[in-house]
Amino acid sequence: MSYGSVVILLGAPGAGKGTQASLLAKACGCDHVSTGDLLREAVRNQTSLGMRSKAIMDAGQLVPDELVLELVADKLRSGKENTGIILDGFPRTTAQAEFLDKVLGTVATMTIQIAIDESEVVRRLSGRRTCGDCGEIYNVHSSPPSGANCNVCGGKDLIQRPDDREEVIRRRLEVYEEQTAPLVEYYSSRPGFHEVDGSADVDEVARAVREIVGSLEKQETGS
Ligand code: AP5
Repeated sequence: MSYGSVVILLGAPGAGKGTQASLLAKACGCDHVSTGDLLREAVRNQTSLGMRSKAIMDAGQLVPDELVLELVADKLRSGKENTGIILDGFPRTTAQAEFLDKVLGTVATMTIQIAIDESEVVRRLSGRRTCGDCGEIYNVHSSPPSGANCNVCGGKDLIQRPDDREEVIRRRLEVYEEQTAPLVEYYSSRPGFHEVDGSADVDEVARAVREIVGSLEKQETGS
């Protein structure tokens, strides 16, 4: 199948990849592909992939490449022809990035690194709550729901992820430094690489991301 343009969001846990991917997907009508969400769905549905991944995720480690690649390949195959794709949390290892290069070939790709300090990560992730029904993301410090329920769907369960406990957050940060941070070097020599300041507020980061993505669209349409 052929793909529309692809935006890869890179960044440490808690940098705001999911928040920005969701806003951008709404703004551009693109598919938002989050490997974290796909894996959590597999865990909820108790598929064999989910059962093999749960303990690994809860411990803050990466799920093995072969499992993630199978999941992503299925997801990309089932996407709509020529629709833009926003990748959130994928790739996360050099092997995953090499796989993506092969799948995408010459498709226009942009990589945005959302940069953030470690101390802010811990504060954000320990304050994160996610709606158990629709997946809307909140933060008890910076963006709480307006009442007790989810603003979007009225869901009553605003859940704290098992991997958002402080000791697991610290392990995820170590894993990020060891296995995912090298991807910044992998992509930074390519023309479509950009960095945004992830410590700014959500709207400001979203504006920066949209500006960058707008420049990709202009290149594609030649305007
Ligand atoms: P995944 O779900 O991808 O977790 P992550 O990368 O650690 O990222 P997070 O979801 O924690 O953070 P985020 O950057 O999306 O931030 P968010 O927008 O939510 O993966 C979970 C696990 O699955 C992994 O540990 C691994 O085990 C496995 N996995 C997933 N993909 C894999 C892969 N490719 N290979 C192998 N294993 C894989 O924001 C965080 C909080 O901050 C929220 O509360 C939000 O409201 C708040 N916030 C966001 N932006 C701002 C802002 N600008 N200012 C203030 N608050 C903000």
